[in-house]
Amino acid sequence: MNNETERAAREEKLRAPLPVGDATLGARIAEGLLRLGYTGEAMRAAVPETADGESSIKMNQAMVAERVGTSTPLGCLLRAFLLRVATPEEPMRRAVGDAFFDLCEEAQLWTRVEGGVVGSVVFLEDEKMFLLSDHTTVRLGEVSMYWVMSIGTSTVIVSESIARRPYEKMLDLCCGGGIQAFYLAPFAKRVVAIDRNPRALNFGRFGAAMNGFPQIEFRESDCYSAVEGEQFDLIACNPPYVMTPDRQAYYRDGGMGGDRFSERILRETAAYLAEGGFAHMTCDVGTMAGREGETRLREWLDGNGCDVVALQGKRLGPAEYAKAWMKADSPEYAAAEVERWVEHFGELQVTAIQNYLVILRKRTKGAKNWFHVDTLAPTRKGQFGHQIARMFACQDLVRRSPAEIWEAKLRLAPDMRMVPTMRPEGGRWMTDSVKLTFAEGLISEFEVEPRTANLLLLYDGTRKSEAVLEKIAAAMGQKAGELKSEWIGYLKHLIGNGILEPVGK
Ligand SMILES: C[S@@+](CC[C@H](N)C(=O)[O-])C[C@H]1O[C@@H](n2cnc3c(N)ncnc32)[C@H](O)[C@@H]1O
Repeated sequence: MNNETERAAREEKLRAPLPVGDATLGARIAEGLLRLGYTGEAMRAAVPETADGESSIKMNQAMVAERVGTSTPLGCLLRAFLLRVATPEEPMRRAVGDAFFDLCEEAQLWTRVEGGVVGSVVFLEDEKMFLLSDHTTVRLGEVSMYWVMSIGTSTVIVSESIARRPYEKMLDLCCGGGIQAFYLAPFAKRVVAIDRNPRALNFGRFGAAMNGFPQIEFRESDCYSAVEGEQFDLIACNPPYVMTPDRQAYYRDGGMGGDRFSERILRETAAYLAEGGFAHMTCDVGTMAGREGETRLREWLDGNGCDVVALQGKRLGPAEYAKAWMKADSPEYAAAEVERWVEHFGELQVTAIQNYLVILRKRTKGAKNWFHVDTLAPTRKGQFGHQIARMFACQDLVRRSPAEIWEAKLRLAPDMRMVPTMRPEGGRWMTDSVKLTFAEGLISEFEVEPRTANLLLLYDGTRKSEAVLEKIAAAMGQKAGELKSEWIGYLKHLIGNGILEPVGK
């Protein structure tokens, strides 16, 4: 082979390292891994350091590898596919069996290194579903541009924001190893997953075979180019939203400088949404040349025929932001990099960076489109797709006329919880104050008067809110007519915060 052919072969190996033509190969690997005890639960029990997705970066691979050992199948598989630490072939074969060892060889899942074999990919397992990604140790070097990330905070935020309900046709834009597609595949009739990184698509196709999702169609695509003219009722997107000066890694760098890639995606998305369809995506938006991120975000989405919920996450200054993204190995390198990023922000006149989870709903008919900004509660417990669906229903209602609001049947959100604070008084516990909060999802809190908390129970979804007002007024010893003008403002506050939700149409 001459140099040029060798280089092309190496490049091809980086782009598509795993054989993906044979769907049964993936299924056999998945079956083998599960049979040998390689489950998320076992993984987290044996390597608690992986409990938060990011910690694999910080953990001491060798020390953890020593701890899990080579005497059990799980220990060997964790060394290979989670820790990327060499294990001699002989104990590996003994632990996992020749047949499975050879199957991994056939699927090109082993890399031979000094001291034995290591997995060529990382496998994460969750509820019998596998995700393939690259290990942090290959993030720099040959793989770097093609590096495929595993599960990050933004992955989880996007996925947890999406209601798990039936969809006709879903798009996973910037799909990476296909995680969003995998989570939604059981709910969607058709799934298209697109990415510009061929290595990510290769991992995604192998993962889909492992998970038994033949309905997911992977396509190589720069942004929406491979789905031109198509429409979806759900788009999930965790793009390379980081504001970097670089084009070093597909997973992180949009490559257009500043927040231009986020802008591009947000401007283009509405055209690919079917009427009534939702798009969920993360982005970072800069305060630029004195213009607030929110103003710029509104401008990108203005007039696109969508209602918008924009949930604000962290807001950081340029240096803080650059430091937060530094995963460099040496402090000197990190300091120089931070300086370079800050210089880039200076050139763009970026003074702050605001993270958003943006949800669009296509609605080209009826009342004017609206734009609602809220906070992405820092405390979250699992799925919050139901709360996003509620936000849309509540924001629709809160903008209607008072007459329509009085007509609406409302109920206290079923996942609402009341948390009283009691104080000791005269040998008894007395209610001091009461907070309303949510049992799961986005955990926000609202202070209410103890008596009001009880009155809210009257909103049980069976009566029009005007009829509920009659009861509330009676309980307060007032006339409904007198209370009405004051209560409508409070009612809007309760609806606007998802404490009360409309029932039915
Ligand atoms: C932050 S990763 C997200 C991976 C996965 N969807 C998740 O939620 O964890 C961003 C992905 O966008 C892809 N990407 C980068 N530039 C792209 C482009 N111009 N068009 C399509 N995908 C792109 C990267 O290859 C990478 O897989």
